[in-house]
Parts: sequence; C-alpha cells; structure tokens
Amino acid sequence: MVLNLLVDPVSTYTKHSLMLQLKLDARMKLIVTDGVFSMDGNVAPLPEICALAEKYNAMVFIDECHATGFFGKTGRGTEEYFGLQPGKVDIINSTLGNALGVAAGGYTTGPKELISLLRQRARPYLFSNSLPPPVVACASKVFDLLLVSSGYAEKVQANTDRFRSQMTDAGFIIAGENHPICPVMLGDARLASVFADQMLERGIFVIGFSFPVVRKGKARIRVQISASHSFEDIDGTVEAFKQVGKSRQVFVRALSVSKEPTILLKKERLPFSRLHRVIRDLKLGTW
Ligand SMILES: Cc1ncc(COP(=O)(O)O)c(C=O)c1O
Repeated sequence: MVLNLLVDPVSTYTKHSLMLQLKLDARMKLIVTDGVFSMDGNVAPLPEICALAEKYNAMVFIDECHATGFFGKTGRGTEEYFGLQPGKVDIINSTLGNALGVAAGGYTTGPKELISLLRQRARPYLFSNSLPPPVVACASKVFDLLLVSSGYAEKVQANTDRFRSQMTDAGFIIAGENHPICPVMLGDARLASVFADQMLERGIFVIGFSFPVVRKGKARIRVQISASHSFEDIDGTVEAFKQVGKSRQVFVRALSVSKEPTILLKKERLPFSRLHRVIRDLKLGTW
C-alpha cells in the first residue's frame, strides 16, 4: 500500500492516519511525500510522518528536489531541517537539476536491497543511456563543494531571511515556511501576470503562477532566492516589488492572525463585480 501525500500534506494527514489504521494488514506500507512543496514553500511535517510510519510499521519516501543542497543547517535537506537522525527516512529521491545546478539527472538513496532491486527493475535506469559524463563530473564537484563548506547553505538562508523579512515589513504576504521558495501572494491571476511583467521591465525575472497550477484565488509570484544573490540584489528586488505594488496601486497587508492574503485594491477603478469577486475568492471581509 502506498500513501501519497504529494497533493496536500496537511489536510490529508489525518485521513492517511486513519487509512494506515485500516490497512494494518498490508504487507508493506510506504508513505510518500515531498520534503518541501514547490508552489508554497511549505515543509512536510516529517517528524509526525516518521512517527506515524514507526507506529504502523510503514516506510517513508521523500522527494527532496526542493531541499537538496541548501535546506537545513548544512544543506542536507528536510531531515536535517527537523534535526532528525540521518537515515530516519527510508528512501530519498532527489535531482541534480535544481539547486545543484547540473540541469539534469537525479538519484535515489535507500537500503542496499532496495537499490539492488531498482538496478534490476527501475525502467528509466534500465532502458536509458547513462548520464552524460559532464553531468556526473559537475554533480560530483558540487557535492565536493557542499561537503567542504556549508557557506552556500548559510548564504541562501541569510538571503531568504532578508527577503522574507523586508517583504513582510513592506506589507506583502509570503507563503510557506522560511524556505528560499518565496511565493508572494497576490490572489488575482491577471494581477500576478502583469506584476511579473513589470518586474521584468525592472530587470527582475520572476514568474506569476495562477490556476490551474495553484488553487483559484491563490495566484502568486514565486521568487526563488539563491546563494549567488548579493544583499544588493535582494534589496533591489524588494524595492522593485514596492514600486510595482505602488504603480499597480495594489497594497497587500498581512492580517495579524491569519496567513490568508488580504488585498486592498486602492483607487483602482475596478468594476464593483470584480472587486467583489477578488474579495470573495480570498474569503475576506472588506477593510
Ligand atoms: C517534486 C519534483 N520532483 C522532481 C523534480 C525534478 O525532476 P528532474 O530531475 O527529473 O528534472 C522536480 C522539479 O523541480 C520536482 O518539482
């Protein structure tokens, strides 16, 4: 039995707990989740998931594509972020193509028996050519760099802290936990798209995401912070967000108790029906 938490870890957690109880008789149980979810930058509740797995004798599999190399104190990923012992998670799948910057390839780690099985049975492994040598050389070098120093992980975290705190002070809502994927919540799909275009005009390449990639009314600009950004880059980006926010006459303000985005479209001549729709979509009261 495989429980897939990839869709929405929080709301399905209780349901899956119940499912595990119902499936006590399954010979093998595997809980599958992303370590970090790519659209919201939120982190799977790994300690709870591991506890659940232990309780019901299940294995845990995490996809670490949005954690490998930079998340956790020294960049070792979600296990490290939570201070879990290495090996607590049975199977880790990850990519060489995201933070490691190699642009292709990936890997699976796990018990020897599983890796032997995959060598015999995993279709992409069996029926594909091996990775190009430059990819392997590059990945190997990146791992060397990461093992020698956690400077890159520290830099990306410092940049993330700076961006998130300055943006929050400026009144924007940044979803997710303290992760370098920083979704700037705007709510309205068209606004997110136009906002991203105006950022590009200022030399900042960010992408607007809207339905069906994210839920309706949850459009956002997803900013990805890197270790190669300087503090000047971060400050300049925040400044550009402020300018575009002002030029669109959009002011975003956090509610003190809720992480739900609150948007005030000030002075913009919106048809009343559209304003009403924006407010309804965001499940807000007016203010
Ligand atoms: C959840 C997840 N897994 C894997 C990947 C990467 O896969 P690949 O290395 O095959 O490009 C991504 C891409 O960002 C991803 O979002």
